[in-house]
Amino acid sequence: MPPDTHGHAVNSPETTAAWRALEAHHRQVAGLHLRQLFADDPGRFKRFSVEAGDLFLDYSKNRITAETMPLLAALARERGVAEAAAAMFRGDKVNASEGRAALHTALRSRDKAPLMVDGVDIRAAVARELKRLNAWAGEIIHGGRRGLRNTRFRDVVNLGIGGSHLGPLMAAEALRPYQRTGIRAHFVANADPADLAQTLEPLDPASTLFIVTSKTFTTQETLANAERARQWLKQKSSGGNPARHFAAVTANASAALDFGIPAESVFEMWDWVGGRYSLWSAVGLPLVLAIGPEHFAELLEGGHVMDQHFSSAALEGNMPVILALLGVWYHNFFGAQTHAVLAYEENLKHLPAYLQQLDMESNGKRVTRDGGPIAVSTGPVLWGGTGTSCQHAFMQLLHQGGRLIPLDFLLGKKGHHAPAAQQQMLIAHCLAQAEALMRGRTAEETEAEMRAAGVPAARRRALAPHRAFPGNNPSNLLLYPRLTPRVLGQIIALYEHKIFVQAAVWGNNPFDQWGVELGKQLAGALLDELRGATPSAHDASTLGLLARLRSKPENK
Ligand code: F6P
Repeated sequence: MPPDTHGHAVNSPETTAAWRALEAHHRQVAGLHLRQLFADDPGRFKRFSVEAGDLFLDYSKNRITAETMPLLAALARERGVAEAAAAMFRGDKVNASEGRAALHTALRSRDKAPLMVDGVDIRAAVARELKRLNAWAGEIIHGGRRGLRNTRFRDVVNLGIGGSHLGPLMAAEALRPYQRTGIRAHFVANADPADLAQTLEPLDPASTLFIVTSKTFTTQETLANAERARQWLKQKSSGGNPARHFAAVTANASAALDFGIPAESVFEMWDWVGGRYSLWSAVGLPLVLAIGPEHFAELLEGGHVMDQHFSSAALEGNMPVILALLGVWYHNFFGAQTHAVLAYEENLKHLPAYLQQLDMESNGKRVTRDGGPIAVSTGPVLWGGTGTSCQHAFMQLLHQGGRLIPLDFLLGKKGHHAPAAQQQMLIAHCLAQAEALMRGRTAEETEAEMRAAGVPAARRRALAPHRAFPGNNPSNLLLYPRLTPRVLGQIIALYEHKIFVQAAVWGNNPFDQWGVELGKQLAGALLDELRGATPSAHDASTLGLLARLRSKPENK
């Protein structure tokens, strides 16, 4: 990222010539309808689709013409996207506000050449740690390392939040068909005591292993849950030593040791990997335990496949770049505030939550990497769900709500479960939604359909406005052969790089998250005040609520 690593100022993107050219282009094409674009260009599908590794992206249902993509690519060029990517891959301190590199790509790299960070070859360190982790996990899986009363571990509970939770949670669910080690993975994140209590209810302490995952090892929620987990084990183990039921994944090993976790069970969470990019590190331990080290290696391999594509393909044929630029196109030029991700794959049900953190914590920023204002909006509100369930919940608004909501469909050609006919039903519905959003239904079509069905004229007139809608809602469709660990790795890395490219375009640092600090700080003070300390200077609303909460009998 040349501007901040070399001390140049980062300007706001709308100041660039490419941005102005896109504004002018937008004025020309904003009124075009996708139906017409398809009718005019029989080669549209071929022109606007791209393959990378095992993934195929159809982006032809976007409100773009043959001129749009070169103009967007020119923006990427002017914003130094390729240079920024090269800087990230080679370990420059692209996370300037925290003075760190962002080397999640090194965790899945197959390159052997040394990669130095602060004088240390991290390639060798990563390989060593992965080997140690796999050996440790192997002992758990095969029963060499056991719990109280020599019991084999059967359940692993990850205690972590945000990036120390969502990645392994999402991936464990996505790869459920690969969970064959006999160890069930559970995930507890919330400060709400219900989360841990309800997770532990059916579990046997003797066969339950806890992983405390926290980069800082200072996160209040995680430490509170870890402490309660320890109490639970102590109470249920009649004096046995629960230390062997704990592992930690952290960049703050000394705090984990102080907590009482044995050094051999403390794994590295690298300083140069952001929490939300850390699934590829020991943060994946619950996943390793559930799917086994070989499948975890395939996930890493998938990430590497996408890294190679991202770092070598020309901008115009680069899948993460294309997705990123289309996102900018809608967010900044069409004013679309949100972006939806709809996976037609039940096992990807946690993908939207995972991508929410990845995208919104990375790009929800208002200043450039060097602290100047960004005059345009960054980071869309990301949301989503799984198909076909979403069709019976929120799709109505996408079809007729009148908002422009660009979306990504994710679709596997094959599933892991029979019957194949039902997989085809799933596929048909996914294609149907994309087509319906794009086409809409005209008044003439509505009229013809009702006339054919024998609906009387007066009723036809009354229903026409309800049944017709404009369509022209854009979508991408990401097609993959089957959701294997390797494919999942490619999908995650695809979105990581998409977000990175958007950050390069907007000029923000995607690897810090200063915005979440204030809430943490205030919560610390408020907790003391709820427990009886004299309230500090708060607004009248907060003071009023505090007073009500403190006066409740159950809080006394
Ligand atoms: O919510 C802020 C945040 O710092 C995230 O970026 C991070 O993933 C999460 O908290 C958990 O942090 P830690 O791994 O240090 O417990």
